[in-house]
Amino acid sequence: MVGAGPAGLTVGNILRAAGADCLVLETETRECVEHRPRAGVVEEWAVRGLERRGLARTLLERAQTHTECEFRFAGERYRFAYTGLTGHHHFIYPQQFLVTDLLREYADVRGGEIRFGVRDVRLHGLDSGRPSVSYVCPESGERRVVTADFVAGCDGARGVTRASLPPGRVRLARHDYGVGWLALLAEAPPSADCVVFGMHPRGFAGHMARSPEVTRYYLQCPPGDDPANWPHTRVWAELRERLGAAGAPPLTEGRLIEKRVLDMHSYVVEPMAFGRLFLAGDAAHLTAPIAAKGLNLALHDAFLLGDGLVAFLTGDDSGLSGYSAACLRRAWDYQEFSQWLAEVYHGTASGDAYRAGASLARLRRLFDSPVAAAEFAERYLGVRTTG
Ligand code: APR
Repeated sequence: MVGAGPAGLTVGNILRAAGADCLVLETETRECVEHRPRAGVVEEWAVRGLERRGLARTLLERAQTHTECEFRFAGERYRFAYTGLTGHHHFIYPQQFLVTDLLREYADVRGGEIRFGVRDVRLHGLDSGRPSVSYVCPESGERRVVTADFVAGCDGARGVTRASLPPGRVRLARHDYGVGWLALLAEAPPSADCVVFGMHPRGFAGHMARSPEVTRYYLQCPPGDDPANWPHTRVWAELRERLGAAGAPPLTEGRLIEKRVLDMHSYVVEPMAFGRLFLAGDAAHLTAPIAAKGLNLALHDAFLLGDGLVAFLTGDDSGLSGYSAACLRRAWDYQEFSQWLAEVYHGTASGDAYRAGASLARLRRLFDSPVAAAEFAERYLGVRTTG
C-alpha cells in the first residue's frame, strides 16, 4: 500500500486479518498522519463496513451521531430530518481519529509493517506478474526495492501512483466548479446541533461540527483567493451574515487554527486499475467537499480492494476483476450528487438571476415534496431505502 490514509490503512487491516504479508509506505511521519485534520462525516454503511472488519470499536464509543441538517436561506431556517425519512444517520468522527485507530490496529495489534518518512516513491513493472515499488529510505538515504504481487495506490490527490498509469490507457474526467471555499477550523464548540448550510447572495457558508472543541466552517470565496485576505474579524463577520436567520443561535467565535483556500474541483480516473496496480480513495477520485463524500468513497474502495485481494489468495479473482467498475459506480453517483448540491449552494451568489431562481426552486422542493425530500435524504446518506 502506498499511503497511510483511510484507504491504505483499511486495505492493510483487511489483509492482516487474513494473515497476508503486506507493507505500507508513507511519506509523512506517524505524528503527522495521526494529527492531520481533514474530513469528519462517516456514512452509516461505511461505519458498519468498518465494524464488520473489527475496525469501528473506538469510533462507535466516541463518534457523535447526526440525524438532521439545516438549510438557511432568505433569512429563514429549514430543518431537514433525514433520519426520520430513512432510518439512517451520519457519524461525526474527525478523520485523524479514524486514521489513528486504523494505524494502531494495523501496526500495533495486527502486526502490519509500515515505513514512515519514505521519499521519492516509484513504481515498476506494473504489467508484469511481480511489480515492485522503490523508495528512498529516510535513515540511510539508500534506495530500497520491495517486490510484491500487488500494489495499492492509496496516496491521495497529490500522490505518485496515479501518474504511473500509462496515459493512453486511462481517462481523467475533471470538473471545475469555478468557485473557491475558504476552509476554516475554529477552536470553538459547534454553534448548532447539526450541519448548517447557508445560501446567501454574498456566497455559501457552511458549519460542521467536528468535536466538542473544534468546528469546521466554510466560506465561498473567489478561486485562488489568498487566506491572508481573511483576517479573524472578516471571517466571523461574513459567517454571521451568511449563516444569519430568524431565531438562529449566535455563532460561538474561536481562534482559527486552519485557514486554507480550496479551488473547488473534482476528478475521476477510469479505470481504477492497471495490471497489478489498484488505485483507491483520493488517488482515484476527488470529490470537492460539497457533500462530505471523499472519506466515504475511500472506505468503499478499500473494503472492495481488501476483500478482493483476500479472495484472490483463495483462488477467486472476481473481486479484483470487478473492482474498478464497482468503485466507479458509487464514485460517479456521489460526483453527480455533489454537482447537484453545488448548484444549490452557489446559484444564489452566482450573479446570474436565472441560476439564483432555479437553485432556490431546488431548495424549496426539498421542503414541499416528500418524494424530493426522500431522494435527497438517500443521496445525502449514501443509502438505498428501497430495492
Ligand atoms: N508515497 C507514499 N505516501 C504518500 C505519497 C507518496 N508519494 N504521497 C502522499 N502520500 C500519503 C499522504 O501523506 C497521506 O497520508 O498518502 C496518504 C493519502 O491519504 P489521504 O489523502 O487521506 O487519502 P485517502 O486515504 O484516499 O482518503 C481520502 O482523505 O483527503 C481526504 O477528504 C479526503 O476524506 C478524504 C480522504
